[in-house]
Amino acid sequence: MKHLLKLSDLTEAEILDLLDLADRLKDENKRGISHPYLAGKSLGMIFQKSSTRTRVSFEVGMYQLGGQALFLSPRDLQIGRGEPIEDTARVLSRYLDGIMIRTFAQSEVEDLARFGSIPIINGLTDYAHPCQVLADLMTIRERKGDLRGRKLTFVGDGNNMANSLIAGCIKVGMKVAIACPKGYEPDAELMRWASENGEFLCTEDVLLAARDADAVYTDVWASMGQEDEAAERRRAFSGYQVNAEVMAQAKPDAMVLHCLPAHRGEEITAEVLEAHADEIFEEAENRLHAQKAVMVRLMA
Ligand code: CP
Ligand code: NVA
Repeated sequence: MKHLLKLSDLTEAEILDLLDLADRLKDENKRGISHPYLAGKSLGMIFQKSSTRTRVSFEVGMYQLGGQALFLSPRDLQIGRGEPIEDTARVLSRYLDGIMIRTFAQSEVEDLARFGSIPIINGLTDYAHPCQVLADLMTIRERKGDLRGRKLTFVGDGNNMANSLIAGCIKVGMKVAIACPKGYEPDAELMRWASENGEFLCTEDVLLAARDADAVYTDVWASMGQEDEAAERRRAFSGYQVNAEVMAQAKPDAMVLHCLPAHRGEEITAEVLEAHADEIFEEAENRLHAQKAVMVRLMA
């Protein structure tokens, strides 16, 4: 593994190795054992979109690994004034040991990897959010044990979260059901791959998708960059909410996961979110441990 651009680039063994390492780093954190695998190393963090979890967990994670993280906003970087990504990649590769980037187009992340000579980590694009799904798989495994054969249902927009959940869950042998309105399906090529390589369903029927789920997942109806579509999306997604009726279809001990931030009363009811707050906030915590594992594997 040279980069983390999207989960479909990884093998099942690579994903499980990251989860094992994340578990170990988490356990060491809880026991106060330090693990300075990245002493003297620097991670650049480029954010073209807002972030709470990704920014703080990468920065703290790098500190805990003995290295440092630099927050690079496009307002300050020359990228914001049009310096091409191929030049930025070649320059930053000479100072840094790795780059985490959150941006719009997946091609920008792929270009950084192509033109630079250091590991690139995708911290969210319109297409994928691999770091989030590593934390999600870690959280499911902590509570359910073996991932193989477990069913994850995603309710909502077929964009970055849905795409990465499909890739990650199918790779580790989980079943995936997506419930989304017509016109908001996940990436077509990824869905084809999922159907050929595992048990996969994409339907408009939320209750059907939720049947016997071990984990029910949702995400906002309007993602970052889609703010002007918010009203139209509220209409399109009105039946696509994780609520008590949907949870009644899932297994009685089903988990609820949300990448956060959450919009109570839209994609999830306040009641379901609060009933599953332990899982959802542990999932957020696990971003820290999972990303530390990624940085150790890529940069140590
Ligand atoms: N889930 C997630 O990536 O959160 P942030 O947007 O706060 O980083
Ligand atoms: N789909 C959301 C995920 C946020 C973590 C977005 O892209 O805004």
